[in-house]
Amino acid sequence: MKRREFIAGAIAGGTLLSGASQSTWGRKLLSLMPTAEGADSRIEVLTAEPVGTIAPEIYGHFAEHLGAVIYDGIWVGEKSKIPNIAGIRKALVDALLKIKPSVIRWPGGCFADSYDWRDGIGPRDKRPRRTNFWVDAGEWPKDAPDGPWKYDTNEFGTDDFLRFCKLSNAQPYIAANLRSLTAKDFYQWVEYCNSPAGTTTLGDMRSDKDGTKVRYWGVGNESWGCGGNFTPEEYAAEYRRFTAWVPRYGVNLAFVGAGPNGGDLDWTRRFFSKLNERRAFGAMWGWAMHHYSWNVSSGRTTDWRQGKGDAINYSEEEWYELLHEADRIDGMITECWNVMGEFDRTHRVKLVVDEWGAWFKPGSEVNNTHLLGQQSTIRDAILAGQTLDTFHRHADKVGMAAIAQLVNCLQSLFLTHEDKFIVTPTYHVFDMYSVHQGKTALRTVVTSPKPSYTRNGQPATLRGLNGSASLDGKRLVITVTNPDLKATRETEIAVRGASIKSVKGTSLTAIDTHSHNSFADPNQIQPKDANVSLTAGSLVYKFAPASVTRLDIELA
Ligand code: AHR
Repeated sequence: MKRREFIAGAIAGGTLLSGASQSTWGRKLLSLMPTAEGADSRIEVLTAEPVGTIAPEIYGHFAEHLGAVIYDGIWVGEKSKIPNIAGIRKALVDALLKIKPSVIRWPGGCFADSYDWRDGIGPRDKRPRRTNFWVDAGEWPKDAPDGPWKYDTNEFGTDDFLRFCKLSNAQPYIAANLRSLTAKDFYQWVEYCNSPAGTTTLGDMRSDKDGTKVRYWGVGNESWGCGGNFTPEEYAAEYRRFTAWVPRYGVNLAFVGAGPNGGDLDWTRRFFSKLNERRAFGAMWGWAMHHYSWNVSSGRTTDWRQGKGDAINYSEEEWYELLHEADRIDGMITECWNVMGEFDRTHRVKLVVDEWGAWFKPGSEVNNTHLLGQQSTIRDAILAGQTLDTFHRHADKVGMAAIAQLVNCLQSLFLTHEDKFIVTPTYHVFDMYSVHQGKTALRTVVTSPKPSYTRNGQPATLRGLNGSASLDGKRLVITVTNPDLKATRETEIAVRGASIKSVKGTSLTAIDTHSHNSFADPNQIQPKDANVSLTAGSLVYKFAPASVTRLDIELA
């Protein structure tokens, strides 16, 4: 029996959520077991063990010219009756401001590698119509009409995106075209965005002369697939060429490389090895992994279409499979980080997860122009919470992330159609969790029974409670998800090195786990105050089944 198996056995099926070094385990194990009567779970926050600052950029978003993300989502047009700010949907901006959207990635995704930024600048009525990357996607809902989602009118271009970011208080993150444009087009796009007014012809074409400068630049997207079908070695050569000379204009440019599909370590190892030949890590700020949770077939298939489930009508098995799929990101982060460190010994390059979320089969979209549009339930909220908690626990590694996608596509925070606008359960999670931004993540050890279910006829389990904690002065925030469909987890919460003065909580649950917010019933799922109090200075909290919780603790 290996040491890790022994430890896992020693805590009676519990779940360890910590990056703690093995030398500290023995000491910690003594305190892992719940001592409060009735409690079956325990959360231990170690105030003396900071993991790192939670980068606000972990709370990023992704807006691609795909289906109704831009047209019908963000962009309604300047002449629209729908309340807008220079053509941008006002309700969206207002709701976004509340959750502090640190960064927004645009224009793709796969779309990025067929986009010519020059098509989207200058007078709107002179901009060309172009065939969208997604025009032939097999997932289009039946009878989807032609429109800007198939033949892009380019009404929404760089200036509009930068305005959207400025209005929303978010930093722009632009994904450049590496497959079908040149390195010159890339550095001229940088020139267009960042050169000071009066210095360059391109800069003078910008509508906001003193506007937001763009620090984050993605050098291609999914270059192993839609972004060019490169080998890692070929992509490394392209990456070096694209980043070899790019003027700074006083901006601390941060280039992000197109990293692996999920846990593809070979892509990372071969790319980093090739980059290392030229010692080129100085030209890379971040390495972007993508991880979608889509296969709920319990191992019956790996087919991209067949493996997906429905967004609303899912079985208990699919519930657990999806959350288990999402939880795999924890190991992927550690493994990818370790491979990066084989070459980038001082870890100059940060890990970026700029596409993550649930991906279901078509059928729950709110309109047939919404390619890859899907509904959201409390299952998606738990997925979002557990993923954000995972990023916090890896605050020393993850420098930026973006959920896919912002509106009307995949695990959206918003659903819109014409003048209708609602927020999804995932939005509420971002609202509950955004307080972690910029705070110090603390090592947090969670032990709880694992939910069990039947997976393709066999008994299976997955991680139980999942959580993280951050500290800001005397203010401690703990966020926790309970994926168990039936069990309430009575949990003893211990804060090592401090005592608790007061506590309050917020919780997101659903009476029916298939329910969802809709245009007709927009508040089916929304957060509520949680029933939590201290008893003689100690904190025991009952995490409801299928819930997301935030505990706001004031330390003495
Ligand atoms: O988010 C949808 C698509 O998923 C993106 O365009 C692409 O990068 C990924 O495969």
